[in-house]
Amino acid sequence: MRLHTVRERCQLGQTLTLYPLGDVHFGSANCDVGLFLDTIQAIKDDPDARWIGVGDYCEWITVKDKRWHAGGIDTRYVTLENVGRLGDHYVGLMGRFFAPIIDKCWGFGDGNHESKFCDENGTDLCTRILKEAGAPGEVVGDDWDSPLYSGWAALTRVCFEDANRHRSAVRIYSSHGWQGGRMDGAKVNQMQRLLAWIDADIYLHGHSHSRFIVPVDRLRTNHDFTAVKADRTYVAHTGSFLKTYQKDAVSYAERAGYPPTSLGTVRFHLTPTMKGVEIEGVQ
Ligand SMILES: [Fe+2]
Ligand SMILES: [Fe+2]
Repeated sequence: MRLHTVRERCQLGQTLTLYPLGDVHFGSANCDVGLFLDTIQAIKDDPDARWIGVGDYCEWITVKDKRWHAGGIDTRYVTLENVGRLGDHYVGLMGRFFAPIIDKCWGFGDGNHESKFCDENGTDLCTRILKEAGAPGEVVGDDWDSPLYSGWAALTRVCFEDANRHRSAVRIYSSHGWQGGRMDGAKVNQMQRLLAWIDADIYLHGHSHSRFIVPVDRLRTNHDFTAVKADRTYVAHTGSFLKTYQKDAVSYAERAGYPPTSLGTVRFHLTPTMKGVEIEGVQ
């Protein structure tokens, strides 16, 4: 678990929009590259947009991998010229894609596709992408590390402060997650279990390719014990850019019988106020 504090100077009432960004699966013929690049452009164009990376940015599947399926790759990007150094090629592309929005990044974590590639090839892809994209970082021991790198799971504390020193904060738990399956009910239940394990205001999981936000209200009293107050938290599966079904293409998800999912990300509006940070989930 990585802990990371982000400081944002903004006015009371100013709304930042948080995009959890992951499960792109770039390199797959079923990846909606246009939607992915449009999302990056939307983050770039909005001065109040921020994002957290939740893994599976690329397929990271090489020809030696048993998951390799020649008909399933995006031949616009994976070619005979670069297939022998596919990891380097993907790192370079991702670095270029994320560079224009790296200053708006609050965290960048691994998915199972990055972790598997690292296990088999001994190279930390997310750190390399961050370096390529121009993320802040420094050499620690012998290795370069970035505070934005959030590993498998992270708690990110975002501290807001305005010119009059009004302060508020929100805590975001993010992890690629592990849950697949065909129905959303079990995914919602598992996310709600996280509330008992980890204390945060927003919980983000990727991996399932489902896209939903569920608000969860928890009751407590005010300081004087004269009123009941509801604290709203949000659990979310963050969506994906991988089409389950596509004309004249057979994907892994199609063979496994996964349901089609709506593409794109969920979003959150975060507004610092005198009473704390107001959070709104946007599906
Ligand atoms: Fe994924
Ligand atoms: Fe995944």
